[in-house]
Amino acid sequence: MKENSCIFTIFGATGDLTKRKLIPALYILYKQKRLPEGCSVVAIGRRKKTSAEYIEEMKNFMVDELQRIVDQNIWAEFSSLITYHEMSFTDDEGYVTLKGLFEKVGKSSNRIYYLAVAPEFFEVIVDKLHGHSMIENKDSWQRVIIEKPFGSNLKTARKLNESITNVIHEDKIFRIDHYLGKEMLQNILSIRFGNSIFEPLWNHSYIDHVQIISTEKLGVASRGAYYENTGIIRDMLQNHILQMLTLIAMEPPVNLEAESIRDEKVKVLRALRQFEKSNIEETFVPGQYGPGNGMPGYRQEDNVDPQSNTDTFIAVKTFIDNFRWGGVPFYIFAGKRMAEKTTKIIIRFKKLPGINFYEGYENTEANVLVIRVQPDEGLFFRINAKNPGNDFAINSVDLDYCQDCGYKGNSPEAYERLILEAMNDNKSLFTRWDELEYSWKFIDSLCKARTAESLIYPNYEAGGKPPAEAVRLIEKDGRKWWREKADEVL
Ligand SMILES: NC(=O)c1ccc[n+]([C@@H]2O[C@H](COP(=O)([O-])OP(=O)(O)OC[C@H]3O[C@@H](n4cnc5c(N)ncnc54)[C@H](OP(=O)(O)O)[C@@H]3O)[C@@H](O)[C@H]2O)c1
Repeated sequence: MKENSCIFTIFGATGDLTKRKLIPALYILYKQKRLPEGCSVVAIGRRKKTSAEYIEEMKNFMVDELQRIVDQNIWAEFSSLITYHEMSFTDDEGYVTLKGLFEKVGKSSNRIYYLAVAPEFFEVIVDKLHGHSMIENKDSWQRVIIEKPFGSNLKTARKLNESITNVIHEDKIFRIDHYLGKEMLQNILSIRFGNSIFEPLWNHSYIDHVQIISTEKLGVASRGAYYENTGIIRDMLQNHILQMLTLIAMEPPVNLEAESIRDEKVKVLRALRQFEKSNIEETFVPGQYGPGNGMPGYRQEDNVDPQSNTDTFIAVKTFIDNFRWGGVPFYIFAGKRMAEKTTKIIIRFKKLPGINFYEGYENTEANVLVIRVQPDEGLFFRINAKNPGNDFAINSVDLDYCQDCGYKGNSPEAYERLILEAMNDNKSLFTRWDELEYSWKFIDSLCKARTAESLIYPNYEAGGKPPAEAVRLIEKDGRKWWREKADEVL
């Protein structure tokens, strides 16, 4: 039996995340022979059904909804590893039968408990697992993967963390932020620390500003009730966007071990400037989409309060008050139901002093490095070069690297990588408690500073332009949100 093999136990196995991400990721890992030998899957749901019915539902969802190609033979082999177990999270009897089931289904005594459940169940499931002696067997390992959101502010996150770490050690906790499994986020450290042309310039002397842009065309779809309680600040800023920011801004770690990387990320979060009431208007613009382009507004979505003031958009200007980044603004732009789906990080270098003899120099752009996270993965670097011909005219030239072009369809999905890394006990792609603690401090300062603000929602059209104030936030500093093409609407 392989040391990293386990019974992968999914709480919330009939839910959206399991259907959309977890089962497809496990299937691909199996297909690619990367799932450790001897692994099996226990899928926990509260609805009555047989394993065969569950397996059929999962396959149909992959084929019909996700439009994935499923090889019948490989699926048959893979699905023979899955057992469906009906129980309620709060019911002790279910844990007793689960324990008995483990003896029957699995060769491995290691366990991963994946909590693909609403946050109010994190605590109770961990408590019950502990109460039934299912997470402290010394002859094998047990790990708990916890989905986001981890708390809704610093106070609730602390309370949740305390109650979980009371019964399981931090070493066994894998707090997920699936962005960390994305190919280009993994690549940020290679780009920064593997290229002599970037790292020496990666500081306030040469970088004018940084932008993180993350927009979606979709609205809240069937997740209105969830979104009402989170909004974009808790759904995106507190986790995915701050993860991107820390990877861009951190110091080189002493090695690539999980704790070394996490130590450096925490230092960035500690240096993030907190929001103040006195400067909130210059640093923060919220928004909410209204009807537009044939799409409903946020307030018309299912399970959303028709008077809701939940934010679906933010533009933020912030600073990292440390030696490397002193005075360099970090601009963040994120929204739902925008004109485009894109996530990218833009590093805008400072412009050199004018060189008079190059005709047109004053109209050229400063160098820019764009890290494309999704949907296209790659890198784009804009430099200035002489126009071909006899004149000394200068123009912008793009060096464009498409990372996924050569591997279309094969670039691993974030959840594939994360599941595998949890089996391998690599925590660098998971969030340590102090990372969360400092990110919540930052978010709390924002939520506190904005209380007096009067919201006039909706303030942008679904599928249309962003709120005008968001454009002003950056333009009053003499800068612009990055557009790949001149006519692009962010
Ligand atoms: N969906 C995503 O794309 C996504 C993305 C990032 C993070 N997340 C996080 O992942 C977690 C799960 O999200 P989701 O969208 O998959 O939620 P969901 O669709 O509502 O699924 C929740 C699951 O929990 C089960 N459940 C609820 N109460 C139960 C109980 N008392 N006993 C037993 N089972 C119970 C549900 O069973 P029934 O089917 O019987 O209701 C369902 O299987 C959340 O923390 C969410 O924030 C989700």
